[in-house]
Amino acid sequence: MAGKKNRNMKALVLSGGKGTRLRPITYTGAKQLVPIANRPILAYVLDNIAKAGIKDVGIIISPETGGEIKETIGDGSNMGLSITYLLQDAPRGLAHAVVVGREFLGDDPFVMYLGDNLIGCGIENFVETFESSDSDAVILLKPVDNPQSFGVAEVDKSGKITGLEEKPKNPKSNLALVGVYIFSSEIHRAISEISPSARGELEITDAIQRLIAVGKPVQSRIVDTWWLDTGKKDDLLAANTVVLDEWFKRKIEGDVDSASQITGRVTIEKGATVRNSVLRGPIAIGRGSIIEDSFIGPYTSIGQGSRVKKSIIEHSVILAGAEISHVDRLEDSLIGRGAKVIKCHHKHQALRLMIGDDSVVEV
Ligand code: TTP
Repeated sequence: MAGKKNRNMKALVLSGGKGTRLRPITYTGAKQLVPIANRPILAYVLDNIAKAGIKDVGIIISPETGGEIKETIGDGSNMGLSITYLLQDAPRGLAHAVVVGREFLGDDPFVMYLGDNLIGCGIENFVETFESSDSDAVILLKPVDNPQSFGVAEVDKSGKITGLEEKPKNPKSNLALVGVYIFSSEIHRAISEISPSARGELEITDAIQRLIAVGKPVQSRIVDTWWLDTGKKDDLLAANTVVLDEWFKRKIEGDVDSASQITGRVTIEKGATVRNSVLRGPIAIGRGSIIEDSFIGPYTSIGQGSRVKKSIIEHSVILAGAEISHVDRLEDSLIGRGAKVIKCHHKHQALRLMIGDDSVVEV
């Protein structure tokens, strides 16, 4: 059987949902498009799918943010993918998203990948595990300190999953579901046999539980690199830090004057301008941005077309078109698209902010 199962392996990427935990940023944009080191989270997800040799990708989108996702990601041809967009009318649960994808998926096996999750490794090995076993599902797990906040799996000695719980008060293990699953077409039958949960969603954990109940083998694999669920501000800053740290190289394509000092792994995209500033990597500076008379410290991403003037910024994510002016110190912050932070008086203070798109803050 080896090799047969993944012959037509597809991917279903879930990029609908509401993103309430990243508000206010997600009032005005899709959370899967929030940039990590100036690239949308979804681009890293699609990279991983392409690297695993999968070509047919269905992306679940919502009516609110689907347009923006289509516009940013396109048809996938630049990544060697063929992308089909699938509209889910409302976030009715992860298993409901599979129902929406039913026709696209046919009876082929598929990787289901949450569009807001980042893992520090590829998925090739997991696909191989699925392909070479008789399992109807392979679920990625990661030990966590606070299993109460996650879907949690119970696993026997051979790695087989024996039970699942959604956000348990008394967790039976510390193994959280990472948000990457591989399913055979058996999952469709399991989903047709479950009902919406108390929170009104069709839960994938219930569907997997159903597979187990009818004796279908469900295997687990542990992710032994990092995993970041980018749902909240601090997770997003952590993801930005890890990606800049592990995946970024020094690449200076922008215009840097001789009064500026650049140390470490700093990426400055074409069309960016740096004047009389100190940049200490790892940092990503987006296309068309202007940095003047400023210090930019490690683990900072500055989005395209942003402007930083006479300011100190560290460990922050500044989205496209934002403006930071005369700020003594901005740290651990997430600043929305087109937002302005302008300091008007002379008191010295460090700012820690999460500011939505197009806001103006004068301090
Ligand atoms: P969640 O984090 O479960 O939900 P959410 O995006 O609504 O976020 P929040 O808790 O902040 O309100 O979603 C995980 C991923 O799955 C995310 O990329 C959105 C997507 N999703 C769908 O595409 N359809 C759905 O019905 C649900 C619930 C989520």
